[in-house]
Parts: sequence; structure tokens; C-alpha cells
Amino acid sequence: MLVSITGLADKLAERFRGRPPEDVLSWALSEYHPNVALASSFSREDIALIAMMTDIRPDARVFALDTGRLNEETYEASEAVRRKLGVRIEWHFPDREQVEQLERTKGLYSFRESLENRHECCRIRKVEPLARALSGLRAWVTGQRRDQSVTRAALPVFETDEAHGGILKINPLTEWTEEQVRSFILERNLPYNRLHDAGYPSIGCAPCTRAVLPGEDPRAGRWWWERPEHKECGLHRPSHGGESKNASGASPRRGKGNR
Ligand code: ADX
Ligand code: SF4
Repeated sequence: MLVSITGLADKLAERFRGRPPEDVLSWALSEYHPNVALASSFSREDIALIAMMTDIRPDARVFALDTGRLNEETYEASEAVRRKLGVRIEWHFPDREQVEQLERTKGLYSFRESLENRHECCRIRKVEPLARALSGLRAWVTGQRRDQSVTRAALPVFETDEAHGGILKINPLTEWTEEQVRSFILERNLPYNRLHDAGYPSIGCAPCTRAVLPGEDPRAGRWWWERPEHKECGLHRPSHGGESKNASGASPRRGKGNR
């Protein structure tokens, strides 16, 4: 199974080279629905993908991981999208007992104390719920783009997700620039997270995200105390050798998330 899916990712890369994201999504929905879903953090990218997918199939599936630490603005964006596009959001929560155990033993900000603690929190609040969200799916879609980060520089449109049983992982916006995503949202008059207008190009959990300075790396505000090559939470394990050795630290700036 794994071998054939790996071969499939390569074949699909060939077949869809240079084709727009809508073509990729059309194919994915016709091939896999209802066993394909978009993972949405309600970034601009994800909202653009929800619009494209629901244009193709109004009942296209969208899931979201509520870590318990998201910004209020993220919930507002999800609600605006739900109403505007009539999409049903499949929310997944972390395991209650694991969160209680973590907070009782290590407090509410253990992720600031070490990379190990940060990974533990991301594992409980994101990675384990993602595994549950993906169980039963044959393919999933993400809003990742190459120019978001050093860890995504070689991101392909189609990957074999070996961490999740070898299912197909599809990144239709891989080659889009931030400007293309912005224009799509504007032209379609789609809602978006208000934090984008407050200097947040990339938005995750509230205590681990802050604004960046103009010209600063888009992910400089994510886990800003860590080195760039560590700025992944385990949702996306590169199948494409995208890790970079660039170790220049993100310049710190006090922002909304720094609380
Ligand atoms: S992260 O790994 O650093 O958190 P990022 O915020 O860049 O990821 O988002 C990349 C993609 O991961 C999103 O486009 C979306 O597909 C998925 N994703 C990230 N966070 C979530 C979430 N809370 N719920 C569902 N999908 C998410
Ligand atoms: Fe925990 Fe921060 Fe990871 Fe969210 S981003 S799961 S708060 S460590």
C-alpha cells in the first residue's frame, strides 16, 4: 500500500505540474470524497482552500484542531467562514485527561521552558488530535506554502504521509506567494483572521504566536524563542528533506502573543 501511494504521489506530481490548485482539488474530491478533508487553522491560505473546495463540492469536508489555546480572533474567523461559505467545521479537541495532567504537573506555560516541553504540549494539543482527525481518511489537504519557512522550502504538492499510515497529503498552494493568497481573499471578499492586519502573517496558538516587524520572516512570530529549523509543531513532518541549517535567530519583539 505504502509503495503504491508513494508511486502515486510521484505520478500525480507529474500529472498536475503547472496546473492551478482548483484542478488538484477537483481531482482529490472526485477521487476521495468523503475520505478527504482540509485541515484548517483559518489562515488566509486555509480560507482560500475552503472557498475553492466548497465551490467544487458544497459538502467538502473541513476539520480544525482546537488546541484550547487559540486566539479569539481565530474563532471569530472560523465562525465568519462557516456562515459565509455554509461549511460545517469538524472540530477536534485534545484528550481531556492529558491536558489536565500536563497543566497540573507543569503549569500553563511549560512550553516556554524547553524544546522538549514545547513538543510535549504540541503533541498533546495538536499531534494526537490530528491523528484522530485523520483516521479513516485516505487523503488530507493543507494550506502550507514553500515560502512560509525554511522547513517548507522543498514542499511538494503531493506527499505520502508516512506518519499517518501512508495516506496522501496534498498541499495545493505550495507554489503560491503570500500576495497571490491575499489577492484571492480580496477578490472573493472572503473573511479572514483580523490578526493578519495587526502584523501576524502566521497564526498558531495565542501564547506561541506574536506579531512580526515589516520585512521580518513570516514565521518569526511563531515560537519566537526557538531557532528557525525547530519551528514546526509535529503536524507536518517533511517527506521532502525541507529542513535547512539556517540557524539565525528570530529577532524578538513584544507583541500580542507575548503575554
Ligand atoms: S504549524 O504546523 O506551524 O502550526 P501552520 O500554522 O503554518 O502550521 O499551518 C500550516 C497548515 O497546517 C495549515 O494550512 C493547516 O492546513 C494546518 N493546520 C495548522 N494548524 C491547524 C489547526 N489548529 N487545525 C487544523 N489544521 C491546522
Ligand atoms: Fe502548546 Fe504552543 Fe504547541 Fe499550542 S503551539 S500546542 S500552546 S506549545
